Amino acid sequence: MTTYRITLLPGDGIGPEITAVARRLLEAVSASHGFSLSFDEQPVGGAAIDACGVPLPERTLEACRQSDAVLLAAIGGPRYDGLPREQRPESGLLALRAGLGLFANLRPVKIIPALAGASSLKPEVIEGVDLMVVRELTGGVYFGTPKGRVEAGGHVRAFNTMAYSDYEIDRIAKVAFQLATERRGRLCSVDKANVLDVSQLWRDRVTAMAADYPAVELSHLYVDNAAMQLVRWPKQFDVLLTSNLFGDILSDEAAMLTGSIGMLPSASLGSDGPGLFEPVHGSAPDIAGQDVANPMAMVLSAAMLLRVGLQRPEAADALERAVDQVLAAGCRTADLIGEAGLAAGCTRLGCAAIGERLLEAL
Ligand code: IPM
Ligand code: MG
Repeated sequence: MTTYRITLLPGDGIGPEITAVARRLLEAVSASHGFSLSFDEQPVGGAAIDACGVPLPERTLEACRQSDAVLLAAIGGPRYDGLPREQRPESGLLALRAGLGLFANLRPVKIIPALAGASSLKPEVIEGVDLMVVRELTGGVYFGTPKGRVEAGGHVRAFNTMAYSDYEIDRIAKVAFQLATERRGRLCSVDKANVLDVSQLWRDRVTAMAADYPAVELSHLYVDNAAMQLVRWPKQFDVLLTSNLFGDILSDEAAMLTGSIGMLPSASLGSDGPGLFEPVHGSAPDIAGQDVANPMAMVLSAAMLLRVGLQRPEAADALERAVDQVLAAGCRTADLIGEAGLAAGCTRLGCAAIGERLLEAL
């Protein structure tokens, strides 16, 4: 029987609770689909700062490198906000992405019919939305140099650099074009080419690549317009291609189409080596340890791990079906229930109880 090595990175805040749910489901679904998983839990983010003094211990990165796929929950918390930037949990996450060469971040946004009423947008606007944000993940202003903070002439000045090289744009654009080919054939590239040189290069490279993909209909939007279009008429989008910072912002916005950011999974992939799968949401320190967190995005990330990371589509389907089933049965965590859910007679459950229902559905 094939055994895959999975590195689990529970991280901070609600991370450990949602990881526990995902792990049990992964155990169950692998057993019923004829393969096994061996888990190696490692600290990252604030948990690693507490345990080893750094947000990404060498041992954690090495364990990830040696595994078939990595499942990360969330990192960060107010306790660490005062630390110098290199020592913060977020720097550990960026170092992990860079260390594994994960330049392509895929964030699917698909409306689950049972949740159409949970969105703050009108049902007719979001019904049938099925889009994919392809976010560049190891470049742009997140990593550009020079950066820093200087004092001169009685003033403090801080700066970052938004930079992309041609090959960085080409490799992420290729991922987006290929995905568009496998989906509905529409690709919208997002930039700020009316103002930024880095965006003009982005647009030039993406435009040039379109010749290799005649079946894909390419369009471009400035990021401010893209933000507006996402809430005005999100159904117009199939694949959205963005740089690191724009994708960070637009994917949080797109998450709200589904009713809660607690529903959105993601996959981060490189050209080789293991992929990293993680929910789009953060560590939600305000609700950590209270058993109210929504584990669905983490479970859906585990499904992406099975589908994309291990090429086990049947097991991935089973997990996704379990999520649909539990939602269709009216089970909701606090973030999803709202007025509409209560009026419709939905049941409010905690994180662990949702995990139990998902196991039963499996
Ligand atoms: C995300 C997060 C991260 C990012 C943070 C935690 C560094 O917001 O994955 O979207 O900005 O990339
Ligand atoms: Mg973000």
